[in-house]
Amino acid sequence: MRIFITGGAGYVGSHCARLLRESGHELCIYDNLSAGHRGAVEASELVVGDLADVKKLHQTMSDFGPEAVMHFAASTAVGESVKEPLLYYRNNVVNTVNLLEVMKSLEVKKLVFSSTCATYGVPPKMPITEDMPTHPLSPYGRTKLIMEQVYADCSRAWGLGFAALRYFNASGASFDVTIGEDHKPETHLIPIVLQVALGQREQVEIFGDDYPTPDGTCIRDYIHVEDLADAHQRALLTLTPGKQIIVNLGTGSGHSVKEVIDVTEKVTGKKINVKMGPRREGDTPSLYADPTNGQKVLGWQAKVTNLEDIIQTAWEWHREHPNGFAE
Ligand code: UFG
Repeated sequence: MRIFITGGAGYVGSHCARLLRESGHELCIYDNLSAGHRGAVEASELVVGDLADVKKLHQTMSDFGPEAVMHFAASTAVGESVKEPLLYYRNNVVNTVNLLEVMKSLEVKKLVFSSTCATYGVPPKMPITEDMPTHPLSPYGRTKLIMEQVYADCSRAWGLGFAALRYFNASGASFDVTIGEDHKPETHLIPIVLQVALGQREQVEIFGDDYPTPDGTCIRDYIHVEDLADAHQRALLTLTPGKQIIVNLGTGSGHSVKEVIDVTEKVTGKKINVKMGPRREGDTPSLYADPTNGQKVLGWQAKVTNLEDIIQTAWEWHREHPNGFAE
């Protein structure tokens, strides 16, 4: 298949692109490199471009002639979205409308979309199923939910087939250690703890230990990035024009912040210095997926289900690339 990938030089996008390339698909990666890395993709597949540049987007897509689109490009920092909501509505919602207009004009009717568990907000119970109410807590989560709703409208109006894949906490690195997570600035727990293990940070601050969880720290569902890639490929092969798929991508198990730190000490053999801090605004005590629907709709389930294995792949990447990608 010929697949057009927005944001394919980013963390999850580059792992998906790699799997699709290995499976023999032809790729065009459209990325403005604001968060993505040249070093994460094949140079011959990369077009440096912005979704706001509709002329370039149209030209690139029409020259390539894709049968499907995977859409990763987005602003993704929850905290930043609270301070700069308009940036998020423009980058995420407006640019997605640009993408859909080009897809419609070229009659491309398959879209796999990078969505998030942040669409749920505070769910009524755990684990989270796709039919639970969606009340996002941040502008980031709201933009992702709005995009899902726009796809549903386009599906009814002109037959767009879409899969909205609601990731839980993407983590880990490629099994061959060639690509991995590199955000600047880094805000995610596992890479921060690994930076402490590498001596690049003095300590990790735990954002709150007075939550109603067994050890008082927040619980999340850490899902390996190679498992996310597998789900994207399956979604692509399942999609037909007009079909609407919404699927949670998680392991089904939650781990606390303290557990992540303990397991990281075990994996790295290093002492992790910890400082207790106040709660971070917008954090939910516990979030983990019911992955049953992924099995039913995509025939997918996470293969890397052990937190130790997830952290091991991330550790290998960070140890071999302490400063991330060269560019
Ligand atoms: N945490 C700390 N200290 C840190 C960093 C994080 O204690 O220095 C805690 C957080 O409070 C949270 C957990 O570690 O309880 C995980 O935090 P991350 O920032 O790694 O991930 P989030 O769960 O906040 O965010 C993830 C995705 C978002 C998505 C969100 C949905 O990265 O894109 O889940 O809740 F929107």
